Amino acid sequence: MARFTLPRDLYHGKGSLEELKNLKGKKAMICVGGGSMKRFGFLDRAKGYLEEAGMSVEIFEGIEPDPSVETVMKGAEAMAKFGPDWIVAIGGGSPIDAAKAMWIKYEYPDCTFEDMCKVFGIPELRRKAHFCAVSSTSGTATEVTAFSIITDYEKGTKYPIADFEITPDVAIVDPELAETMPKKLVAHTGMDAMTHAIEAYVPTANCDFTDSLAIHAIEMIQKDLVPSYNEDMAARHRMHNAQCLAGMAFSNALLGIVHSMAHKTGAVFADYGAHIIHGAANAMYLPKVIAYNAKDETAKKRYGVIADYMHLGGSNDDEKVKLLIETLRKMNDDLNIPHCIGKYGKDSYPTEQGFVPEEVFLERLPGIAERAIGDACTGSNPRQPSQEEMEKLLKCCYYDTEVDF
Ligand SMILES: NC(=O)c1ccc[n+]([C@@H]2O[C@H](COP(=O)([O-])OP(=O)(O)OC[C@H]3O[C@@H](n4cnc5c(N)ncnc54)[C@H](O)[C@@H]3O)[C@@H](O)[C@H]2O)c1
Ligand SMILES: [Zn+2]
Repeated sequence: MARFTLPRDLYHGKGSLEELKNLKGKKAMICVGGGSMKRFGFLDRAKGYLEEAGMSVEIFEGIEPDPSVETVMKGAEAMAKFGPDWIVAIGGGSPIDAAKAMWIKYEYPDCTFEDMCKVFGIPELRRKAHFCAVSSTSGTATEVTAFSIITDYEKGTKYPIADFEITPDVAIVDPELAETMPKKLVAHTGMDAMTHAIEAYVPTANCDFTDSLAIHAIEMIQKDLVPSYNEDMAARHRMHNAQCLAGMAFSNALLGIVHSMAHKTGAVFADYGAHIIHGAANAMYLPKVIAYNAKDETAKKRYGVIADYMHLGGSNDDEKVKLLIETLRKMNDDLNIPHCIGKYGKDSYPTEQGFVPEEVFLERLPGIAERAIGDACTGSNPRQPSQEEMEKLLKCCYYDTEVDF
């Protein structure tokens, strides 16, 4: 028996933000990030629509990128004071994810962050509020997923909260919100979406329902991501749908170790100057993980199918895997994303000497590898890496060397 869960309603297409007018309730709390939604007028519009729906509205703003446990607790407190029956999260993955975790704490004030992190262990929600997510980036698809990623900055690590309870009730996928994304954000979130689609096609939990979504998303992203990066707005609009399809797939098929590694490297070098942005981390690690997973015969066949749908050519699965890896690396080049941590420089652009010094990487490597193996995304990966293999894989991701194990 398997389960396939999505939001009950999904409104898509230009102008779908206006659907907020039709939510039925008394009080809505809007959760939003640091300013882009306000700057471009989407926050005011959302507030106006909710007021037209007859609701009183309060705004919780300032949710930072890669939201922290502290922000979640603060937001939940604000919810407890206001008592919303709708939580409306608008923005990228960060504010929507934070709002999902706030929702749990709001419904269950005694629930600790550790309790939330128990995979598929969230008690029944919707006793106090329903949840609507409006995405403004084209990548995480958190508007349709059962996931929320929260960072514990004390431990320097990201924790996925995973449970169908936090799949939103309503998702709004309005491409107008994605038009204002700066190019770098388009690149990172787009490769995040590509990673979701590819990882969702090969994990142990994949099924007919998720395969169709994953493959269609891969075809769309292959065609539309680079043009979207180069400011083609029709392609940008299609990418907003494509990332959402990828999300529907992975929310039900789960992911793999690209995500495990991205979660555990994202914040761990923050003391050396920068985060490794989630989408960029995925973009760098995906080709390496494909080479590693392709040692599993079933996974290799599945990568071959992906290559076929992408029309890459190749006369056997080994060739197809090679062509898939080359294509993804070419996409990284076209999107100005480096190939490895060692070359991950200022503002995430490729550079000769990245911001993570080699000796710091090597010193932290065993801990990162151990935590990556323990990440919630590892269990569904086609191969289960040992500590030694995970360290070797991470080294390939630092030096951009071949994976031959
Ligand atoms: N829940 C999931 O299923 C899931 C999946 C993948 C990643 N994630 C998590 O999501 C987070 C990343 O989310 P993200 O990539 O969407 O970025 P984000 O939400 O962190 O936003 C990044 C920046 O882009 C700005 N921004 C957002 N939308 C914009 C727009 N339309 N125009 C201009 N600027 C805009 C924001 O203000 C912010 O400064 C990470 O914490 C990652 O771990 C979650
Ligand atoms: Zn992701």
